[in-house]
Amino acid sequence: MSTKRSHLRFRFTSNQRFNSYLAPFFFLFTILSIILFLALKPSRHSISKPLSTSAAASISISGTGHNLPEVPRFAYFITGTRGDGARLDRLLRSVYHPRNYYLLHLDLEASDSERVVLAKNVGSMKNVMVVGKANLVTSKGPTMIACLLHAVAILLKEWKDWNWFINLSASDYPLMTQDDILHIFSYLPRDLNFLEHTTNIGWKEFQRARPIIIDPGLYHSKKSGVFWAKEKRSMPSSFKLFMGSAWVVLTRSFLEFCVWGWDNLPRTLLMYYTNFLSSPEGYFHTVICNHKDYQNTTVNHDMHYIKWDNPPKQYPVNLTIQHFAEMLESGAPFAHSFSKDDPVLDKIDTEILGRRSEQSGVVFENIDVIRPSMSSKRLEKLVSDLLSTQNFRSRQCK
Ligand SMILES: *[C@@H]1O[C@H](CO)[C@@H](O)[C@H](O)[C@H]1NC(C)=O
Ligand SMILES: *[C@@H]1O[C@H](CO)[C@@H](O)[C@H](O)[C@H]1NC(C)=O
Ligand SMILES: *[C@@H]1O[C@H](CO)[C@@H](O)[C@H](O)[C@H]1NC(C)=O
Repeated sequence: MSTKRSHLRFRFTSNQRFNSYLAPFFFLFTILSIILFLALKPSRHSISKPLSTSAAASISISGTGHNLPEVPRFAYFITGTRGDGARLDRLLRSVYHPRNYYLLHLDLEASDSERVVLAKNVGSMKNVMVVGKANLVTSKGPTMIACLLHAVAILLKEWKDWNWFINLSASDYPLMTQDDILHIFSYLPRDLNFLEHTTNIGWKEFQRARPIIIDPGLYHSKKSGVFWAKEKRSMPSSFKLFMGSAWVVLTRSFLEFCVWGWDNLPRTLLMYYTNFLSSPEGYFHTVICNHKDYQNTTVNHDMHYIKWDNPPKQYPVNLTIQHFAEMLESGAPFAHSFSKDDPVLDKIDTEILGRRSEQSGVVFENIDVIRPSMSSKRLEKLVSDLLSTQNFRSRQCK
C-alpha cells in the first residue's frame, strides 16, 4: 500500500493529469474504506509522529500496518456579534481538534468584557486565538470581506502548517466530528477549493452588480446599514462576475494568492467589491474563476447544509429537530442556520459528536489518533459525487 501513496498525493495542472488520478484514488479510497470498516470497528487512523504539511510522513492504522494519507490541518475562523460569546464557545468545542487552528472574532458591536470572557474561557487551548482588536462588520457590506482577509492574514502569520481555511458563523454547527472530516480530507488533493458559485447571476445583476453601495463601517465606529448611491454602474467587461454562497473552504495557497497580492487581480477585485452589495457572496468566487491557475481547483459546493423557503426569504430556515434526518442525508459536514441553544444542537452533540451538552472541556488523549465514525461515509459519498466525472469539471466556473 505504501508504494501507492503517490497516487493519492498530487498536484494537477491539466485535465488529463487530474482524471488519470481519479480512478486509482477512488479505487484506493474504496478499498481502504472497506478495510477500515471491516477490520477496525471503531477504526483508528493514527499517526506515528506529528506531521507538517511538507513532511512526507505516513499515517498507519494501528494494528494493520497499512499506510494512509497524511492527515491535514484546518484553520477555522468563527465570527459573531454582540451576545454571541456563548454560542462561539459552544461552536468552538463542537469543532475542536488539537490538530486544527481556531481564530474567534466578536465584532465591534460586542463589548470588550464579552470578548474578555470568551478569551478567558478558551485561553487554555494553545491552538485557539481571539481577535483582540475587533473589526466593525456591516452585514452585506465589504467590511465583512475586510474582516475575513484580516483573519486569514493572522492565521497565515501565526500558524504555518494548515491546509484549508473554513469560515463559520455563530449560527453554524457541525454535522460530524473533526475526525470524520479530517479523515475524508486526508484523501483529497490539497489544492481543491470548495465554494458554491455560478456565473448565471440572473436577477442579481440588477440587485447586486449594478447598484453602487457605500459601507459606513469603513469610516464610522457605530454599526449601521449600507447606503446606496443614485448612480448605477455597468457590468464589468475586464473580468466575469461569479456569485454563490458566502461559506467557503479555501486552500492555504489560494488565500496566500489573495492576501499577498503579487498578482494584481485579487487587489483590483477587492476595490471593485468595495461598492458591491453582499460582497462575501462573490469576491472569492470572482477571483478564483478569473485566474487560470485556480479555476481548475474549484469544487462547486460550500460544504454546508442550508435550507431555503420556497420562494426563498431573506434569511434561510432555522433548522430544528424536524430537519435532523435531511441534514444528515445531505452529507455536508456543517449546517446553517441554528437558533441559539436549539434542542437539535443537543441531539447533534449526543448522537453525532458523542459529547454531552454540559461537557465543557475537550479531552484528547492523543492528538495524532484519528477515529472516523460511520458519519464519515456520508461525507465520503458527497465528495465522491462532487468529484465524479459528470460533476467535477463540468461545474467549474460555469
Ligand atoms: C483547466 O481545465 C481546462 C479544461 O477543463 C483546460 O483546458 C485548461 O488548460 C486547464 N488549465 C490549467 C491551468 O490547468
Ligand atoms: C464568512 O462567515 C460569515 C458568517 O460569520 C459570513 O457572513 C460571511 O459572508 C462568510 N464569508 C465571507 C467570504 O466572508
Ligand atoms: C431564526 O431564529 C432567530 C432567533 O434565533 C429569529 O430572529 C429569526 O427571525 C429566525 N429566522 C427565520 C427565518 O425564521
